[in-house]
Amino acid sequence: MNTEVLSVKNIKKSFKNGEDRSEVLRGVSFSVLDGEFISISGPSGCGKSTLLNLMGLLDTPDSGEYFVDGLLVTNMSASQRAKIRGNRIGFVFQSFNLIDEMTILENVALPLKYRGDSLSSRHARALDCLDKVGLADKAHLFPNQVSGGQQQRVSIARALAGDSGIMLVDEPTGNLDSKNGDAIMQLILDLNRQGTTIVLVTHDPRYANMASRTIHLKDGLVVTPSEEAQDASEAA
Ligand SMILES: Nc1ncnc2c1ncn2[C@@H]1O[C@H](COP(=O)(O)OP(=O)(O)O)[C@@H](O)[C@H]1O
Ligand SMILES: [Mg+2]
Repeated sequence: MNTEVLSVKNIKKSFKNGEDRSEVLRGVSFSVLDGEFISISGPSGCGKSTLLNLMGLLDTPDSGEYFVDGLLVTNMSASQRAKIRGNRIGFVFQSFNLIDEMTILENVALPLKYRGDSLSSRHARALDCLDKVGLADKAHLFPNQVSGGQQQRVSIARALAGDSGIMLVDEPTGNLDSKNGDAIMQLILDLNRQGTTIVLVTHDPRYANMASRTIHLKDGLVVTPSEEAQDASEAA
């Protein structure tokens, strides 16, 4: 339980903005322990998605170090990183990112394809994960035949399919009404109770507070308030 599974050390990332470069992350450091549920909050545009994408190995930092299971991934080749991503990281996007031309079952089974599992074992595993999110009966449908809340469940099932143990979740309720949003958060909480390590990006304080630890991102830096400071700001 106390093993560090993810560790970000002095990560910097800037983007070119016409002639200028804007520094979005200016030296971010923190770690995530096995089985933790942490939330990352902060105002729109403060770099939450940029940080989560780096942690999900979907992008690379300008400088700094990132460790997954104690392994320094920032020095690895793209193919080594892809392997770690496939084995160890499930990612849930705000906009679901499902493939419209594939059935729900095929969407969930897709990440397993790159691991060399047979088609029948991929489909069995996908169905099992759809069952966990309450959608086994929708497996044969296409994403546009189900509601937004259900599409987000499908994307969570897809993140579960790899059995990575770590789920990075970017504003999963951003495109949902509050009823569906609450249900998605309940599902994420249940997955954490069953042992999945969760890193949740959200600007909704209600959801951020469901986490066991909240990290605030401000001006490109992480501010981790002590429990007391957090209590004080909540009271204010
Ligand atoms: N690929 C990119 N190219 C240029 N600018 C980007 C890119 N991604 C993010 N940004 C900029 O970085 C800043 C942080 O964006 P983002 O990480 O999406 O913020 P958040 O998720 O907190 O709303 C924004 O100003 C955004 O415009
Ligand atoms: Mg974002």
